[in-house]
Amino acid sequence: MDEARVLRAAKQQLETAKLMGVDFTPISEAALGASGGSPGRAKQEKAKALAELRTEHDATCPHCTVVTGHTQTVFGEGAPDAALMFIGEAPGAEEDRTGKPFVGRSGQLLEQMLKAMGLSREEVYIANVLKSRPPNNATPTSDEMAKCAPFLSRQVAIIEPAVIVTLGKPAAQWILGSREAMGKLRGVWHEYEGVPVMPTFHPAYLLRAYTPENRRLVWSDLQQAMKRLRPA
Ligand code: URA
Repeated sequence: MDEARVLRAAKQQLETAKLMGVDFTPISEAALGASGGSPGRAKQEKAKALAELRTEHDATCPHCTVVTGHTQTVFGEGAPDAALMFIGEAPGAEEDRTGKPFVGRSGQLLEQMLKAMGLSREEVYIANVLKSRPPNNATPTSDEMAKCAPFLSRQVAIIEPAVIVTLGKPAAQWILGSREAMGKLRGVWHEYEGVPVMPTFHPAYLLRAYTPENRRLVWSDLQQAMKRLRPA
């Protein structure tokens, strides 16, 4: 390891300990790059396919074209060929205002988690099961998800991530077609359309219950995802 990498690793160790309240476990350098995904379609092709899907979604989604109360849809953002994709529940107020996923308080914590992993938002892809803000921030119903989520499936098919991390119960349950509780689903590998899925707690839950134990569990889930992306 050269000096710069040693320094970077030491800095990350400090940040991780500070943010997650856990010991740092080194991950390989550049655990994933934007091009770390499949060698399939080129990045530009994927960006174009995502832009087309977004246009189609905004014009035809049976959920988002009918519900009212949101100011704009929040399609998702990040590297079109990301190896790591995060899937949350639905946009909140700040996401609705900006059109970007995970930019409110939960988003700030997600960014800290990414930082602890040695990653940035630009290196991963972040999306939600529902692409418009539910009135009163209500938890998405299965009917709403059934209407909007086929677009998420197509998003996943375009991005071809190597690993998906779901954030919170609605995303985990929808992706896995399960009714199990988070306590049972998280921390264990599952699969969606051939892609390994690691469910973990939603950052909003972590903010409500910011205990050392919950932080340790989330960090352990994220570490499993990193290991899967780049086995040592
Ligand atoms: N919570 C989510 O599930 N998604 C967002 O984009 C923001 C908050």
